[in-house]
Amino acid sequence: MSRIVYVNGEFLSEENAKISVFDRGFLFADGIYEVTTILEGRLIENAPHLARLARSAKELNIELPLPIEKIEEAMRLLLEKNNVQEGALYLQVTRGPADRDFAFPKEAKPSLVMFTQKKNLINNKSVVNGISVRSVPDIRWARRDIKTTQLLAASLAKQSALDAGADDAWLVEDGFVTEGSSNNAYIFTKEGVLVTRQLGNEILHGITRSAILKLVKQGNIKLEERPFTLQEAHSAQEAFVSSATTFIWSVVKIDGNIIGSGEPGPVAKKLRRIYIDEVLAR
Ligand code: PDD
Repeated sequence: MSRIVYVNGEFLSEENAKISVFDRGFLFADGIYEVTTILEGRLIENAPHLARLARSAKELNIELPLPIEKIEEAMRLLLEKNNVQEGALYLQVTRGPADRDFAFPKEAKPSLVMFTQKKNLINNKSVVNGISVRSVPDIRWARRDIKTTQLLAASLAKQSALDAGADDAWLVEDGFVTEGSSNNAYIFTKEGVLVTRQLGNEILHGITRSAILKLVKQGNIKLEERPFTLQEAHSAQEAFVSSATTFIWSVVKIDGNIIGSGEPGPVAKKLRRIYIDEVLAR
């Protein structure tokens, strides 16, 4: 059965969901996006995702085509029409179609596209086995805090990791890990400190990261928000990543070095469990 896709106010079968070849999303990657988790048929943490969408739009001077409440309404309708219990809802806003010109068009109408993806998020083999990562230079642009659709550097990083037999890439800049190709990165040191990079333009301000750090602060785990090196990661007790679609996945190998016991560790496992329980209880 084909999915129902949302395109600029219409709910269409995916075969009929089309966007102009002149859309600036297509020509310039002039667009922003969000990925909201679906669990038990509900959108998880959608309010902060929409707040980040609004911020991304503001930073790029893109006018959202609908007020946030109307976007949220459309998301709920789309979810209902596709009857997804577990997976993700992808939403993209571009500056819209206009004749090709580097300057912003004066009268383009922003495009809004959304679709759902069914995925096994809870019972996933990466939860049981953990993942291996390969470090690659972070060659992305300087405003990674904006969730833009220009994902080629991240895609190249991920593919080079896969080609080298790993599951994902950790991006490294000036000797420090910034984040994963599509997730935030953490280590839990031998001294019992959870370390993750501080917010700034160098990383995406993950919605999952924010919720996890709240749980960490409520618990008895010491936290340092600062850059860390690969060497520090190699000697950590645990390492893990977070994102809307992984929640938390343990990283058990970095560039061939086994981290801790080589299996998902207790801190990552506990945080993952508490996080999922907490978002479902809301
Ligand atoms: N990626 N860092 C990067 C570079 C990301 O692309 C993502 C999310 C995150 C985690 O953010 P959040 O917790 O808000 O999902 C961090 C999404 C899932 C994606 O591109 O598919």
